[in-house]
Amino acid sequence: MTTEPLIFAENIHRVDYLTPYAEPQADADSFIDWGLRPVESLDGPWHFAIDPYDTCLRSRWFEEKYVDEAGRPYPMDFSFDDWETVPVPSCWNTLAEKWFWYEGSAVYVRKLEFQPGPAGERVFLSFGAAAHNAYVFLNGDFLGWHQGASTPFRFEVTGKLKDDNRLVVVVNNTRRPENVPMDNTDWFNYGGLHRGVALVRVPATFIKTVSVTLVPNGEFRTVAVRLSVEGLDIDGRAEVEIPELGFNRVFDVAGGVGSEEFDLEPELWSPDNPKLYDVYLRYDGDEWHDHIGFREIAVNGLDILLNGKPLFLRGVSQHEESVANGRSLTKQEVWQNLTLAKELGCTFMRLAHYPHDGLVSRMADEVGMLLWEEIPVYWAIQFEKPEVLADADNQLRELILRDRNRASVIIWSVGNENPDTDDRLRFMSTLVDSCHDLDPTRPVSAACLCDPSIPAIRDRLADKLDIIGINEYYGWYEPDFTKLSALFENSQPTKPVIITEFGADAVTGLRGAADERFTEDYQLSVYQRQIEVLSTIPYVKGTTPWIFYDFRCPRRTSVLQGYYNRKGLLNADKTQRKLAFGALQEWYKSMQ
Ligand code: GCU
Repeated sequence: MTTEPLIFAENIHRVDYLTPYAEPQADADSFIDWGLRPVESLDGPWHFAIDPYDTCLRSRWFEEKYVDEAGRPYPMDFSFDDWETVPVPSCWNTLAEKWFWYEGSAVYVRKLEFQPGPAGERVFLSFGAAAHNAYVFLNGDFLGWHQGASTPFRFEVTGKLKDDNRLVVVVNNTRRPENVPMDNTDWFNYGGLHRGVALVRVPATFIKTVSVTLVPNGEFRTVAVRLSVEGLDIDGRAEVEIPELGFNRVFDVAGGVGSEEFDLEPELWSPDNPKLYDVYLRYDGDEWHDHIGFREIAVNGLDILLNGKPLFLRGVSQHEESVANGRSLTKQEVWQNLTLAKELGCTFMRLAHYPHDGLVSRMADEVGMLLWEEIPVYWAIQFEKPEVLADADNQLRELILRDRNRASVIIWSVGNENPDTDDRLRFMSTLVDSCHDLDPTRPVSAACLCDPSIPAIRDRLADKLDIIGINEYYGWYEPDFTKLSALFENSQPTKPVIITEFGADAVTGLRGAADERFTEDYQLSVYQRQIEVLSTIPYVKGTTPWIFYDFRCPRRTSVLQGYYNRKGLLNADKTQRKLAFGALQEWYKSMQ
């Protein structure tokens, strides 16, 4: 009886095959703010295969054990370098019909040549995001894993790279009840290395996290700079420079952290004047650089104030999707979305229901678009489980650390349409506190449901929020439109309300009577009646109707919907505007 388990026996008999991959997990604590550092892109063709039974992790393909100790060949069930290639970043769903509905594990493989840099440099493998979980292997060794489909992560590979290397990444997009979001959503479950991958080099001691903001004190003349450094010398002096303002100061760094406030009167960033400054931070030979807009967002009573002036947030909700590329929008597609939103008369976009690519907030900074960013605490979540809260909190912290220097981002949202239960209240209150702790400069919100029995705005979470988001579908899911006015009459919120969703499905080009559902005329009628009411409610300070454009949705199987949610103001490929686009555009233009 052999004492050594046969290699295939280990693979087919081990039920807890994921246990060896439980640690290390990349999370917000390992976050590094690359700013505009040069990176060595690893985007491009990677070898690829779907792996429905997770055999790569079960049979440890990443070790590439082709022969036994005596050199006798093993039979292999994979052929990394002969597999077909796919472009990274991409979603496998939109690359080939055979992968469109695929949910499960898939294996990405590429070679990587490496030239060492200056002595002491530190090297990181950086991922924009992977949907949903990713397990990363370098030269047969497990680097770690990441959970969460829409936030960045990285692994240090200092000293682990040879001249020629092998990268293996297992990505699994299986929907699970214990995930955030869980297995039931109203959007398409894309999968893949859907954002960029790169190698990033920093010096032995480097600037790790940065926050550069206007202190929200209503005076617009105090800039707060906070940084953390990692490495050998964590006590020293840091320099901050804003050349255009002739500003250059030094401040102390002690124990790896430095924080200082400076009197400064920068030109304020706003949608009408998206002024960005080159900001440089230097420490111990390292330099961090980014484009920063200085602005203040605040809540005062029922008002939302941008740079001290009350405003109405003329918005629209948007999923991160294009027909051609799923979640992996190109720069041109992101630009097109922002341009079309401005044509609609928007100054604000709700990026639903998960963190969109960091490119969106960077471009929004440049073009002057305000953003609501959200984590996918969506509908029912297993609110009672501490590990689920840890997952949600980590995704929230990864989002905030990634985008807190983006002037365009004005609201963090901790969720959408969750049931008002005690567990949910505890769970979401913790997330609200996390937001305020990590970023005291922005208001926190969530898209809540109203209490239809009265009807009234009565979600207990509202007491914790700075701004109340409300989703209401009077005229669509709630046929009795007269209740919309009653909803507002019965509610006396003490803080601003944004109507984060209203709308109706419409098949592009389908015309009919105003009471004929799924026609453009019906959708137009809903918008007209919603606008008529919403424009009279003093505490409604913004709207982000649902939704900018039609999007894929496996729950929508009727012939008219065809696995799409048709509530878009545009059709899915954004080439055709529906009648309601004009109605919203007219309302928003009337406010300018
Ligand atoms: C909900 C939900 C959206 C969904 C929309 C709809 O409010 O927040 O994600 O797509 O309604 O039913 O169309």
